[in-house]
Amino acid sequence: MSRSQNRVAILHGVNFDVLERRDPNLYGGVSLGELEHRITGWAAELELEPSFFQTNSEAEFCGYLHRLREGADGALINAGAWTHYSRAISDAFAVDPVPAIEVHLSDVDGREDWRKVSVFEGLVQDKVAGQGVDGYKVALEKMVNLLGIAGG
Ligand code: DQA
Repeated sequence: MSRSQNRVAILHGVNFDVLERRDPNLYGGVSLGELEHRITGWAAELELEPSFFQTNSEAEFCGYLHRLREGADGALINAGAWTHYSRAISDAFAVDPVPAIEVHLSDVDGREDWRKVSVFEGLVQDKVAGQGVDGYKVALEKMVNLLGIAGG
């Protein structure tokens, strides 16, 4: 497998730096470091090469998306609350998109109405929500299929 087909960027947006302090009933009480550690293990099993990015700055998130293709063949995107209203972020992703899956720890479609809206709709290939940390494993497996690689 060519190294240039298995690079997956894992992007986290606003408030994921304090994930372990957020409602454990919704987000599982894990830290971002723990979440990234779990993702790293699953990615290795699937022969994916993960890279991680988190910021609380919408401008930085947009800048990262502009350059996404330079370092990634695919992306898992959990933009947190930005998911539901930031057209700046979806426009930034649309500049030069890679195959991407929207991921949420919580069941966004079963919560408040405003969380049912996603600015990524129509731009990403799939969405995984409401499966907690394990949802990232599901999303990585879907990414293997999206990238058309043998993984696993
Ligand atoms: C979230 C869901 C969003 O609605 C919320 O604003 C978050 C986390 C999730 O992973 O469940 O910050 O993206």
